[in-house]
Amino acid sequence: PRVAVVFGGRSSEHAVSCITAGSVMRAIDRSKYDVVPVGITLDGEWVLEADEPALLAVTDGRMPSVSAADGQAVVLLGSSSRGSLVTLSASEVPHTLGEVDVVFPLLHGPFGEDGTLQGLLEMAGIRYVGAGVLSSAVSMDKHYMKMIFQAHGLPVVPYAVLSPSEWAHDRSACAETVASLGYPVFVKPCRGGSSIGITKVSRPEGLEAAVELARTYDPKVLVEAAVESARELECGVLGSLTPGALPEVSVVAEIVVDPSREFYDFDAKYVSEEDAKLIVPAVMEEGDAVAVRRMAAQAFAAVSCEGLARVDFFVQPDGRLLLNEINTMPGFTPMSMFPRVWAASGVEYPELVDRLVQLALQ
Ligand code: DAL
Ligand code: MG
Repeated sequence: PRVAVVFGGRSSEHAVSCITAGSVMRAIDRSKYDVVPVGITLDGEWVLEADEPALLAVTDGRMPSVSAADGQAVVLLGSSSRGSLVTLSASEVPHTLGEVDVVFPLLHGPFGEDGTLQGLLEMAGIRYVGAGVLSSAVSMDKHYMKMIFQAHGLPVVPYAVLSPSEWAHDRSACAETVASLGYPVFVKPCRGGSSIGITKVSRPEGLEAAVELARTYDPKVLVEAAVESARELECGVLGSLTPGALPEVSVVAEIVVDPSREFYDFDAKYVSEEDAKLIVPAVMEEGDAVAVRRMAAQAFAAVSCEGLARVDFFVQPDGRLLLNEINTMPGFTPMSMFPRVWAASGVEYPELVDRLVQLALQ
């Protein structure tokens, strides 16, 4: 089969997506799959990329990105049963790049992980890896994600949403809402990822700057009570290739953030290996791990997820479990948790990629 690996994209997680794609392109079984690498620039242009995973790694501390100068523009066309990728030649006469059997949308954040690309692929009749339109959209927006989880009786971290109009017209009501959660709080763009635009705020005086920062990524802002002294756990969920079978859940892993850092921020996720330790599997009672894994499966089902997800939790000092969030296209970078929890569960990286593509082709 021919697999179009799509990466980069218009979101603030552009670079993370490029690193993810490099890792997947390195791991995918070339005896089985032809890879067509398609980059999307920050401006939204689609470009045929070189099949060189090394170009998609962090080089001398510089994050990779997709540039319009990388290659020919790509236009996505639909067909009745299989997708066609078409390049536009310099003379503007389309010539085919050939059909692809499946798109692997390795995009994080808005315009990729949020149902927009998924809708485009549905319209074009092209199969793709991962969650569908609704599931992607709900899981991208932390406000709607929490509402769906609550409707399913799943425990979420207490939160408030600051809409653009409330923030513009009633700042003191916003401040009161946030105060009722109790400081410290985390201020986050509702639709984002990789901790970009997130601030931990300890006192009311810090609220405004944190909200303004979050608003540069999304006009809708989520404020969450900080869960103090909590353990941070994550696990992976993977669709089964057996028709009708329930998705599989990986071992549980723990993130231990260096005490010098306030939280598991972007640098701890992708830049410095010292800032956060990933303990796979987490050291915990078997019964507690079973409870985490069960809740991961419930979260996956609650948002009607398909293919894959990483589900993130907090465990409070009294042992109570809280659902933090679900990520429908978790990072696959060398520092990412998703491939590690699967390796520890007996599914090595190339097999993981193979399973995801096979699931999409079913
Ligand atoms: N949003 C990042 C890529 C993750 O969840 O891994
Ligand atoms: Mg996330």
